[in-house]
Amino acid sequence: MTETVQKLWPELEWIKDKSLREKTAKTWEIALERSVLNATDLENIPFSLLCGTDVKVSFMAHKRCVVHIARASGEKMNEFFGNDLPVNMDVLISGAILADVGKLLEYELDKDGKSVQGKYGQYLRHPFSGVSLAEECGVPSEVCHIIATHAQEGDLVKRTTEAYIVHHADFMTFLPFKSRLIV
Ligand SMILES: [Fe+2]
Repeated sequence: MTETVQKLWPELEWIKDKSLREKTAKTWEIALERSVLNATDLENIPFSLLCGTDVKVSFMAHKRCVVHIARASGEKMNEFFGNDLPVNMDVLISGAILADVGKLLEYELDKDGKSVQGKYGQYLRHPFSGVSLAEECGVPSEVCHIIATHAQEGDLVKRTTEAYIVHHADFMTFLPFKSRLIV
């Protein structure tokens, strides 16, 4: 695992299976190699372009928060539901870390050097490009399923428990930035 990826994602250490941890890290590594963005950009650019210009929360702050919420949710579900609804924590954490990895390929730099959505990202949104990167690194299908279904595309298929958790962790931390009741 490169130092850059290790620094970007301290949460990788939560994945107990060494092989899955390395495949998850490798996927981020090749995404960074192929992206116009670097690790420092990810700590600075806003996490979404869909919430207006006031949102300053960074890409990494949002992605890491989703992983933390997903992990806490999985632990609580295992604690309260046990074998009635088992959550595979390694699959959950790997999937949460990888959900938005494809976004690194969605960006292009415009003529002013600003990152904007490029043609590739328009044709292949990040759930698709994310699966492509992850499969290249040998990430198993149960994790790729989480990447594939974490956004609205996933509403069209049946999600695993782990994919439901990541989907909701992602949207519960996105929708209130986009639109919320303020009284
Ligand atoms: Fe996403």
